[in-house]
Amino acid sequence: MEALQVMEEFKKLYGEEGNIRLFHSPGRVNLIGEHIDYNGGYVFPCALEFGTYGAVRVRKDDKINLASTNFDLKINVDLKDLSFKEEHDWGNYAKGIIKIMKEGGFKVGGMDILVSGNIPNASGLSSSASLELLIAVMVNNLFNEERIDRVELVKIGQKTENQYVGVNCGIMDQFAIGMGKKDKAILLDCATLNYEYADADLKDYALVIMNTNKRRALNESKYNERRAECDEALDILKNYKNINALCELTVEEFEPLKNNIKKENVRNRAEHAVYENERVKEAIKVLNEGDLITFGKLLTASHNSLKDLYEVTGEALDAIVEEALKVKGCIGARMTGAGFGGCAIAVVEKESIDNFKEIIGENYFKRTGLHADFYLSNIGEGTCEVK
Ligand code: GLA
Repeated sequence: MEALQVMEEFKKLYGEEGNIRLFHSPGRVNLIGEHIDYNGGYVFPCALEFGTYGAVRVRKDDKINLASTNFDLKINVDLKDLSFKEEHDWGNYAKGIIKIMKEGGFKVGGMDILVSGNIPNASGLSSSASLELLIAVMVNNLFNEERIDRVELVKIGQKTENQYVGVNCGIMDQFAIGMGKKDKAILLDCATLNYEYADADLKDYALVIMNTNKRRALNESKYNERRAECDEALDILKNYKNINALCELTVEEFEPLKNNIKKENVRNRAEHAVYENERVKEAIKVLNEGDLITFGKLLTASHNSLKDLYEVTGEALDAIVEEALKVKGCIGARMTGAGFGGCAIAVVEKESIDNFKEIIGENYFKRTGLHADFYLSNIGEGTCEVK
C-alpha cells in the first residue's frame, strides 16, 4: 500500500482528528556475509526501497492500539501489560520494542498505530526487523525528541528479537534497516560495529531478488540451533587460540586447528563462518576494482557453503539458485537472509533480465511446483519519518 492510502486507512479506522504522522522502514537484502554477524564477521547488506509504512497518533491515555492493513488481527493493550502473547502474532514485535524501550528508561506513551507492509511475509527480507525499527523510530520521534542514537535503536531491535521474541539473531538486519542509506550498501564489522557505506556499483548488471515463495519453516528453532553449534565450535577452538569469535580466525589459522572439532556438523559450521568472512573481504575488493565476474562467483560460492556446510538452504532455494545460474547473463546467485526458504538474489546482465525471469519462472515451477516472484529494487533509505 502507498503512503497516502495508509493515511486514509488510518483515518477510517481511528478518526481524522489530531496530528497523524507517517513513518517508513525498509526491508533489506544481504549481498554477502551470511550467518556470520553473530560470529563477529563482516556483512554487506543494504536497505530496499520497499518496506513497512506506519501511521501513528499519540493518545492521551496509556493505551496502545495496533492494526495492520495486511492482517485482520487488531490488538489493544495497555502500557502496563506489554507481555508476549502468542495470539498477538505480528503485534508482539511492536509491543516488544515499546516494552524494551520503556524498561531502558526511555519515554513511551499511548498510541494508535496502523502499519502496512509491502515486504512479503516470511520472505527473508526482514519484515520483522523492518517493523521493529519502525516502532522504535516512532517512539524516538514522538516521545523522546529524536534524541536516541540510531545505533541504540538498532540494538533495541536486536534485543527485542533475542529477549522478547526468542530468536537469537545477530545485528545485521536491524543495522541495515536502521542505518540504511539511499544507493549505498553497508560494510559492517559485526565485532566492533564499525561500518562504512559503499557504492555497490554493479555496472551493466542488476540485482534481482527471487522469492521462492517457500515460506521459511522451522526457521526459529533451526536458527538458534546453528548459533549454538557455532558457540560449540568456538568453545573448542578457544583451547588452542585466544579468540572471542569464530571470524577472528583467518583461513590459514583455522585449517590446522579445525580437526580438533570432532563433530562433523559443528566443524562444518565453523568452516563456513571463517571462509564466508574471507569471501566478504574479497567481494568488497573485487567490487571496488569493478570485477563483477569474480564478485558473482563469490556470491555463488557463498550459496554453496550455506548449502553444504551450513545446511540452511533447502530444496526451493537450491533449485532457484541452480536455475538462475544456468541462464545466460547471470553471473552469480545465492540465498539471502536466514535461509530455509524465502529469497535468493542473482546478479544479472541488465539486458537479460526479462528473459531471465521468464526462463527461471518456468524451470523453477517445473522442479518445485511453486511460482517464483521477482523484485527489482534500488537501494533505499533507512527508517525515517515521511514528511
Ligand atoms: C537472519 C538474522 C540475522 C543474520 C541472518 C543470516 O536474518 O536476523 O541476524 O544472522 O539471518 O545472515
